[in-house]
Amino acid sequence: MSAVTELKILITHHQIAERVSEMARQISRDFKGQSIIFVGVLKGAAIFLSDLARQVELDATFDFIGVSSYGNRPSPMQELISGWDSTGEVRLTKDVDQSMRDRNVILVEDILDTGLTMTYLKNLMLAHQPRALKIAALLDKPLRRKRPIEADYVGFKIPNEYVVGYGLDYAERYRTLPDICIIPRD
Ligand code: IMP
Ligand code: MG
Repeated sequence: MSAVTELKILITHHQIAERVSEMARQISRDFKGQSIIFVGVLKGAAIFLSDLARQVELDATFDFIGVSSYGNRPSPMQELISGWDSTGEVRLTKDVDQSMRDRNVILVEDILDTGLTMTYLKNLMLAHQPRALKIAALLDKPLRRKRPIEADYVGFKIPNEYVVGYGLDYAERYRTLPDICIIPRD
């Protein structure tokens, strides 16, 4: 895979910081006077969650959930290149540590792509019977959607490209980059 220098910046850390602050203000308004719990999807959402949660002016806690795709699903990068199209299945690798019953839950995800992961997680969370369930996604690739699911809070809608940085990886690399960058497809 390419060196870091071949990456092209799509969204700078300044733009991210500004947008994350706006999202935090919106969440603070929407849940004014209430407590919330952020549930971050490992590992991609960890950095977004830590920035978002620290700017929300509410009584807030957080937890993490882990998922992975079953072996029949190619990596998101391969999917993008090959135009892979099938149902795909999601598997839970780490459950939340506490019950979400009667809680205001905000699922925090790095990117909403086909929607398979979020559809699975939304149903899983709804089974806990939360008081409210919202989805916050830093990025959204609407053109890739295979399930009818949308986030309540979206940072940026982006084109059909493979992106890394600010938590997002390619084979575990690049998560620590401050900006969101495109990996060229050639
Ligand atoms: P979905 O189930 O297709 O919506 O998959 C979402 C997951 O795929 C995200 O949580 C990411 O882990 C991964 N993913 C999708 N697109 C990208 C990308 O462009 N860069 C890095 N990871 C991605
Ligand atoms: Mg993810």
